[in-house]
Amino acid sequence: MTETPPITALSDDTAYAEAVQLAVDAAAAYYADGTSTLDDDAYDRLVRGIQAYEQAHPESVLPSSPTGKVAGGAVTGDVPHTVPMLSLDNVFGPEQLADWAAGLERRLGRPVTAWSVEPKLDGLAISARYRNGRLAQLVTRGDGTAGEDVSHAIGTIVGLPERLAEPFTVELRGEVMMTASQFEDACAKRQAHDGTTFANPRSAAAGTLRAQDRPYVCELTFFGYGALPHPDDASEPAVRLRELPHSEIMHWVTAQGVQTTAATPVAGIVADTLDRVQERVNEIAAARATLPFGIDGIVIKCDLAADQAQAGFSSRAPRWATAYKLPATEKITKLLAVEWNTGRTGIIAPRAVLEPVELDGSTVTYATLHNPADIARRGLMLGDSVTVYKAGDVIPRVEAPVVHLRTGAEQPIEIPAACPSCGDAIDSSQERWRCVRGRQCRAIASIVYAAGRDQLDIEGLAENRIKQMLDAGLIADFADLFFLTREQLLDLERMGETSTDNLLAAFERAKGQPLSRVFCALGVRGTGRSMSRRIARHFGSMDAIRLADAEAIQAVEGIGPEKAPVVVAELVELAALIDKLVKAGVTMTEPGWTPPAEPGATEADGGSELPLAGMSVVVTGAMSGALEALSRNQMNELIERAGGKASSSVSAKTSLLVAGEKAGSKRAKAESLGVRVVTPEEFAGLVGPFI
Ligand code: IVH
Repeated sequence: MTETPPITALSDDTAYAEAVQLAVDAAAAYYADGTSTLDDDAYDRLVRGIQAYEQAHPESVLPSSPTGKVAGGAVTGDVPHTVPMLSLDNVFGPEQLADWAAGLERRLGRPVTAWSVEPKLDGLAISARYRNGRLAQLVTRGDGTAGEDVSHAIGTIVGLPERLAEPFTVELRGEVMMTASQFEDACAKRQAHDGTTFANPRSAAAGTLRAQDRPYVCELTFFGYGALPHPDDASEPAVRLRELPHSEIMHWVTAQGVQTTAATPVAGIVADTLDRVQERVNEIAAARATLPFGIDGIVIKCDLAADQAQAGFSSRAPRWATAYKLPATEKITKLLAVEWNTGRTGIIAPRAVLEPVELDGSTVTYATLHNPADIARRGLMLGDSVTVYKAGDVIPRVEAPVVHLRTGAEQPIEIPAACPSCGDAIDSSQERWRCVRGRQCRAIASIVYAAGRDQLDIEGLAENRIKQMLDAGLIADFADLFFLTREQLLDLERMGETSTDNLLAAFERAKGQPLSRVFCALGVRGTGRSMSRRIARHFGSMDAIRLADAEAIQAVEGIGPEKAPVVVAELVELAALIDKLVKAGVTMTEPGWTPPAEPGATEADGGSELPLAGMSVVVTGAMSGALEALSRNQMNELIERAGGKASSSVSAKTSLLVAGEKAGSKRAKAESLGVRVVTPEEFAGLVGPFI
């Protein structure tokens, strides 16, 4: 899944000394207040280069070198740790994981039968000292042997109670971080205070934890990953806790009222084989993009205390644990320009043009900037170094400017005074700006979309033809297409009898498209093809959809409390268009619709006899045989008709991969995860009656 990152090659002692200085400075900034000058990837590459140079030239090693030191030797503190707070060694893929496990089992002289697998939280390590059940002191990791007292933060950290459920004297270790909403809130507060923001949640958490004299308070979050009684504590409960497997220690921590990842989709598990470990690694990696907090890997530990004790520690890290690193989801690059576009629905959206940067497997050149308020909130300027975030299939987004990398040459971002498409006024009453003409502004884009292959599939209706019709005043929206007469079409330039008849026939066919496609053609904000199918299959008719209030709409899978009112408002805005479609005789029902099962209904209540019931199916490569002519969207429709769920990416949750000719990485991933792979022909056999 991940490869070992490349290294920064160093040519001579001068380059080596410069690299050491750069790494020392970057680590100092990173551990001081998170204002790093290098992103994680660049720092790792640099340290690897330093390491390689030192191996080849042991005589040149500088004492200030960050290699082999906790936190790159950047930080110190004055509160000694009772037990050192160490780093973790890394692995970068399945093979390295297997090598590490094999080495550990050789050392132990027996197989490990219980591995604990949990997310590696991307925050700051902290030691929370409880005395008789009361939170008495908070200490940062520092250099691993002594840290800094940050007890002033007590009371601002969600998940770290001031009292445990029992009057225990114990040290809890875990990670302090900011969730996405805490980060948003912290950025807004800082913006209001001094006009700047934090570069990312991690640096916001670092700065916040150490800050003592801020006039505003930002909330933090704690997730525990370990509990240690004091080494001198020989009481019975302390001895018992020390002897528990890691997984049971974590249950105990949760029972004390302290937050762990137990209640999240990436909860720690115990795996009895390395295959199961790898499977959980893949599951956590797949869930990463959906989490409201950052993770940068997966930590694999021996679960049993006896295994841990026997494996012991190296100078820097435990031998009984390792971190399986995931690819970086955030990098620093330059904001070159901001483009403004009016979309189909009239929304005016800014888009960042970036100096291209490799992120989670692809080159990112554009990233979303959401809306003008967001630009202001983040205090962005042209020419800024910015942190860009991208994970999985999530659209890349600019997170924040890296303010301390400013050179003074940055320029304000110009905010448009008029709609960039038609020049009319902008309605800026909402956060998302909109052309006052709404959908009319980009009517052509709406109609092209509605006529598209995955919506009404109107063959022969090219964009220039739509433009001609709009210019001639024959249509204003796509419903008007169904009222065009043969004469009106024949009157258009370059429109012969045959093409006219073909087009009229295509309009007739389009009227028979199922509700899912008609609904999709409306271009309701926040709903694409698969969401439209879900809505249509949930309600069965346009009447039922229009009668639904926000609460009823929320019953559709994937529609949350934010999206539901938007859908309702959009349907009100589109009422005249929908009425016109009804008048034209366009299909307003979903063929073969049956009401959805009541919550709590069992499989036997319905649906289970469909061949793909409960299955998540991914399609890749070129289809052949009976499926050859189907577009990807039609394949997805077929999967859903047959009771399955169509998905675009392979994960451990995938039940089936339909792999045609030229299937590439998805096939390899499915095979590595043990997901069943079938040919298009085999799949056609499975879903025959639904094609
Ligand atoms: S266990 C002896 N578990 O990763 C070290 N650490 O790179 C045992 N971290 O300093 C640490 N999530 O701050 C452990 N589930 C987890 C973790 C985790 C994040 C951090 C921790 C540590 C760093 C090492």
